[in-house]
This record gives sequence, C-alpha cells and structure tokens, in this order.
Amino acid sequence: MRFYIKTYGCQMNERDSDSAAALLQSEGHVPADSEESADLVILNTCSVRDQAERKAIGKLGIMKRLKKEKPDMIFGIMGCMAQSRGAELLQAIPHLDFSLGTDQIHRLPEIVDSILARRGKILADERTGADTPGIDMHRADPDGGHGFSAFVSIMRGCSRFCSYCIVPYTRGLERSRDAASVEAEVRALADRGVREIMLLGQNVAAFGLDNRAPAQDDVSPFADLLERLNGINGLKRIRFTSPHPAYFNKKLIEAVTGLDKVCKSVHLPLQSGSDRILRKMNRPYTAQEYLEIVRALRAGAPEITFSTDVIVGFPTETEEEFEQTREVMARTGFDNAYIFKYSPRKGTRSAQWEDDVPVEEKERRNQVLLADLERDVRKRNAALVGRTFEVLAEGPSKRNPDRWQGRTDTFKNVVFTPAPGSAVTPGDFLNVRIVRSTAMTLYGELV
Ligand code: 5AD
Ligand code: SF4
Repeated sequence: MRFYIKTYGCQMNERDSDSAAALLQSEGHVPADSEESADLVILNTCSVRDQAERKAIGKLGIMKRLKKEKPDMIFGIMGCMAQSRGAELLQAIPHLDFSLGTDQIHRLPEIVDSILARRGKILADERTGADTPGIDMHRADPDGGHGFSAFVSIMRGCSRFCSYCIVPYTRGLERSRDAASVEAEVRALADRGVREIMLLGQNVAAFGLDNRAPAQDDVSPFADLLERLNGINGLKRIRFTSPHPAYFNKKLIEAVTGLDKVCKSVHLPLQSGSDRILRKMNRPYTAQEYLEIVRALRAGAPEITFSTDVIVGFPTETEEEFEQTREVMARTGFDNAYIFKYSPRKGTRSAQWEDDVPVEEKERRNQVLLADLERDVRKRNAALVGRTFEVLAEGPSKRNPDRWQGRTDTFKNVVFTPAPGSAVTPGDFLNVRIVRSTAMTLYGELV
C-alpha cells in the first residue's frame, strides 16, 4: 500500500511516525506524497492543548470525503488522542478503521493486514515497556534523504504529573529503555553517517530512574548514558529534549558542561517564574533554584544557550506573578521560548480549578513575553557579530536557495553563502564568521 502519515505535536510523535513508516516500509509498503495519493492514511495526534485536538478532529472530518471517493482506503489514528480517546472515536467516526495507542506502534503492519482482510475495526491501546519492538527502527531517509541527524527515543511516558498536563495519562508512566540498546542504536546510526542525535523523552533526564524521585548529586543514569554515547566514533553532536529542572543535579550539570559532544544548548522548561504558581503546577523547584541551575551550567560552559516553555494564564495567576515570570526570563536570558496560553485538559488536576484568567489577558501576557524575548535575543545575537562558529550545514535556506542554513553547537540558526562552485553537502561541518544578525538568524561568511 501507499501510506501517508500526518504528524501533530511534539518530537516524540515525529519519532514515532518515523518508526511507523520504517515498519511499514519493512513490510513492502511505500510512502506517498499526500493524503490524496495514499491508500493508507494515519494521523499521529496530540492532546497537549485543546487547539491540537481540534486540528486533528477537523482533519478527521475532511477524511470522510476522501474515504467516500476511495472506499478501499484505510484510515487510522495513532498518538495521544488514540491512546486516551481511541474507543470513543472509533465508535463515533464510521470511516475510522483503527486506533493505535502510544505503545502499540509495532503492531501497525499486522493491524493493516487484518483490516485488509476485512476483519473490522481495531483498537490497540495496551501499555508495554519502553523497549518495544520497532522502537529503534529508522527510515532510510529520516531528514529528507541526507541522514546526518536522527531522533532517538530513550524513554517513554512521564511520572511527574504536573497539574496541568495530560501526558502522564496519554503516554503512561516512565519506562526507560535499556542503556545498552540505546547505545547500539546510536552506534548503528553513526556507522551509517549520522553526525547528530537528538535524545527524546517526555522527561528525558529521568532516564533510568523510572518513577523514582530525582537522585542525590552524584547519581544520574541519564548523565551516565550521555557519557557512554559521547564515546561513539563518528558521532559529533548529542542533543536532548525535554529535561525537567528537578533532575539537574551536580552529576548531570557536569556531564552537560564537560562532555565535548553534548551540545551547549539546553531546553529547560520554566513554566512559571512565580513560586506559588510553580507549587500549584506541582513543579518541585523555586524560581531561585531554577536560576541556580542556569548559573551552574553557565559557570561550566559560558557559551551555553537556553530555551524554555512557559505557560501564561494558569488558574489564579495574578499580574504580579506574571511579572515574576518576566523577571526570571530576563535574568536567564533565553535564546528561544515557547509560550503557551493555559488550556484546561480533562482529567488533569488543574482542570478542576476555574480557568479564571480571561483569554484576552492570556493573549496579552503571551505578547508581552514574546516582545521581551525578541528584544533580548536581538541584543544577544548582535554581540555575536565578528565571531566564528562551527556550523553543521543542514541544507539550502528556505527563503533563498542560493544560501545555506545550519546550526551552531549552541543551536543558533546560521545562514551563509557557499563559495560559487564549492560543493557543500548537508551534514558538513563548516566554519562561518558572523557578519550580521537579526532576532531569528545569524548571517555569515565561510572562512
Ligand atoms: N496548557 C497550556 N500549555 C501546556 N503545556 C502542557 N500542558 C499544557 C496545558 N494544559 C505546555 C507546557 C509543556 C509544553 C510541551 O506544553 O509548557 O512544557
Ligand atoms: Fe507533562 Fe510535567 Fe511530564 Fe512535562 S514533566 S510531560 S509538563 S507532566
């Protein structure tokens, strides 16, 4: 069959779609370029905010028409909505053939066969361990055919139960893969030319602790894993997302700052700068403690950059508490921030509380933080003009194909012009001198 997978949501979903595609390809199915040209369409869904669910519901409606035109088409969902609402959706939507839960990706080929044999609708939502079959499978062309960068899923689920978050319910509790199996996967990727890996997990720094609390200062199985992967020949960059600040003990801070392949850019979700809101969110750190982690990482790696997630308009968040978030953001100095307007999710603790910050006020707070960020990053980027960085070339720039785009170790986006006639290949490491900057991009020349 020709298959098409449409992915919503986080990088874990992208990784799962990639595994699903690899599994289908290993059974002889082939990728299609669009829903219209496919015989098998799968939506990989997200539940983290209401907007994400609404997008997928809208798409489910559109699929009805396609299926009418092509009655033999198979149509399924996977991801977080499939896990939490699969049974309900299969019942409500006649044209939906299967719902594949977050731990059941390995069953996809068998489910497709079963539907082809007209054995009716299928719901698969059992939970399994993290080392499920297929978890380490990659398509031959994970990043559009170049294969210099790959996602590696190292743990599944989350046991933190932040009061606003649906993830522990949709993805289940933490289950870590075996470190040896992760290492084998990364070695195999490096052998086939992968230079950069992104380690993925909903609570990635809890790797190896599975439901145990963050450990004392000298224990971090995640730091041990980083050290193991740092020794792999051919691999040049190790990134990871998303770590919870509570796991940044001395051992992990030393690993991140000290290991040469671990990129000096950390996504460190803050969520709020108010201690009262953090407590209500069930985030077990204070603004001071967060800033202390940032300070320690900078002390060990002065060039390190930070990005973050922030929620505005959490129930009862006052203007003053919002200003505290602004303050912590200014003191940290982020290079990027994802700002979210609070969205109550059914089944979570905070959904029991009144969603009392008006939507216009959430929007205002959102805009204020984005404007702060822009100003801040613009200033920081301007200070980099004249410096030379090693850039991993990713491909021609989207805006102007004569130029190329790449990333520094610190995850700065760099646009540069290769010399006429010179052959730059995605995955090359090049030295680029920065000549100009904006809030989003550094522009440079090859040296
Ligand atoms: N409302 C708004 N944002 C949310 N996030 C998670 N749950 C919610 C919610 N209910 C945000 C958090 C998290 C990111 C992936 O999504 O900031 O870090
Ligand atoms: Fe959700 Fe909190 Fe787990 Fe992140 S750490 S996935 S916000 S429960």
